[in-house]
Parts: sequence; structure tokens; C-alpha cells
Amino acid sequence: MLQIPSQPGHIERLRGNFTGKDILSLEQFSAEDIQTVFEVTHEMKRIAVNHLPSTRLAGHLLSLLFFEPSSRTFGSFCAATKYLGGQTLDIQNPETVTSVYKGETFEDTIQVFEAYSSAIVLRHKQVGAAQRAAEVADVPVINAGDGNNEHPTQTLLDLYTLYERFGRLDHLTGLLVGDLLNSRTLHSLMRGLALFPNNTVYLLAPQRLRLPGDDILSLRARGLRIVELAREEDIPRDCHFWYWTRIQKERFASLDDYQQAEQQRFVATPELLARYASDDMILMDPLPRVGTIDPAVDRDERAVYLRSQIRNGLYTRMALLALVLGRA
Ligand code: NCD
Repeated sequence: MLQIPSQPGHIERLRGNFTGKDILSLEQFSAEDIQTVFEVTHEMKRIAVNHLPSTRLAGHLLSLLFFEPSSRTFGSFCAATKYLGGQTLDIQNPETVTSVYKGETFEDTIQVFEAYSSAIVLRHKQVGAAQRAAEVADVPVINAGDGNNEHPTQTLLDLYTLYERFGRLDHLTGLLVGDLLNSRTLHSLMRGLALFPNNTVYLLAPQRLRLPGDDILSLRARGLRIVELAREEDIPRDCHFWYWTRIQKERFASLDDYQQAEQQRFVATPELLARYASDDMILMDPLPRVGTIDPAVDRDERAVYLRSQIRNGLYTRMALLALVLGRA
């Protein structure tokens, strides 16, 4: 259960001012805040694409603390900081390479790295870990994924990818496929889509990995139209985007449970696109795909997961860092 609160508790809303704030959840954002990130993103893209030297984050050092594996989120935060002239302290697997191994608590660890850095980017398997870190650290904490809860910076790049393609974030129809129960990228994305009017999502998940009913009700109450599908045959042909996800192996209690769920996974193939996808849709995936998108689909121009979606992760994270550190 995601326990989407209708009135978020002590998560501070951005209200147009990012400087010094923690970025923990999509709950903090308004539609205008998303637009603010996009405005800065345009400029960041220009810097990165043209290899323009930037000193925007000069003097700043970020601690990247990743208690779970990561390629894109870690790589792009690291690259984003460096493109803007800042530095990073890169710590993947703190459990094995820091004093966490010796039994140091999470709270102590956060305070240690707080002392060295202007901000902490944290990925952790526990729901609420970033919020806990934000409670003990005075520097901004950015949630790079907390368990199966949220992944707000992924949503910024996903929304930017949609905005770039369609020029708007309202009146969009999407197909969300895969592990609706455990995909933090989907949980944040739905919150993001709910900020804009007249969006519809069709959900297609293995029976045991459906989005909990309470969460569906809570998102509907915010205005997101949600339709659950039972079979591929029910996919409507007019979706603007498909958002594919893998089955989140690391969230299962046993390998057996995972293997059972995996047998019911949905796979994006050229045939499925030919049958149900419109000509001008895009196919997104936060990646990694683990057998869930046939590599033959990569050649399709509508497949953006290895193209703009990856690059937008760099540009939007550059923008977010500049905003949070007051250098936008
Ligand atoms: C996602 C994550 O870690 O939640 N990866 C990412 O950040 N791009 C998706 C996933 O692991 O399935």
C-alpha cells in the first residue's frame, strides 16, 4: 500500500521556491513547479548539448549515497553535478564500504555526509528513508528512490519527455504496464499526471501486482482518470504513450514468488506495437528492462527509452540541482 495522503503531512510544498528544499515526493510539486523545472531544463540542455563550460555549481559538493544499485539515476546525478562545475562524493553500496558495515546507524551516516556536502542524493530500499534523512540533515536531501514508494526525479524526466513530445501535460492518455504494485517510478508518475487536467491512464498489471484499490481511489479523487485493463487485447489504440516497467524482483519475499509473477509479465514486442500503438505515440521505460521489451522494438522511432528519456534525466537533474542549490 502506498498510502497516498490527501493532505501530505510534514513534506514541505515547494510553492515556487526550490532553494534549500528537500525533494522527497511529487506531493511537494504543483503544476507551476513542474513548469519551473522545465524552464531551467531548457537552458541546462543547451549547456550539456553544446558542452558549454559552466561554474554554476562551483564550490558545491554533493554526496551520492546509493544503498540500492543504480545506473541512470546515479550516473546522471554525478554527470549533472560535474557538467555544472560541482563535485560529488560517490558512494554506491554504503553497507559494504562505509561504517554502516560496522553497525553505524542510518541517522549517524547521514549526519556524517551532511558535514561534507551541500546536498545529499539518497537511494534506499526502505520506504520513507529520504524523509528520515531529511529530518536529521540540514542540507537538502533528494530522494533518488525509496523502496517501492516514490522516485520523484524520474518523474521530472518522464514528464519532460512527454512535454517535449506533445507540448503539454494535460489531455494525455497513457498505458502503464508492469509492476504497478512496486514500481516507484509509476507511483510518482501517476501523482505527476494527476497535477494536470484531463489525463487518463490505463493500467495493465499481473493480477497480484495491481495498484491497491485505495491508491486508485486516492488518485481518482485528484482528477486522474484510471481504467484497469485485464488483458493486452483491451489496450486502446489511441494512447499518447506507453510506459513499460519490469517486475521489481528485489521487492519479493522469495525467488519463488518472483518467478511466479514473472510468468505473468507483459512484453512489448513489434507485433504488440503494430496491433495497438498509434503512429505518433511514444514508448517509455525507466529501465532497466529485464526481458520486458523485445530489443527488436529499439529500432522503432517511437521507442524513446534509450534515447531522449535517458538524456532528459541528465538535463532535468541539472535543473533540479541548480534550483535546489540556489544557482538557477
Ligand atoms: C527505476 C528504479 O530504480 O526505480 N530505475 C531508474 O531509476 N531508472 C526503475 C527500475 O529499477 O525498475
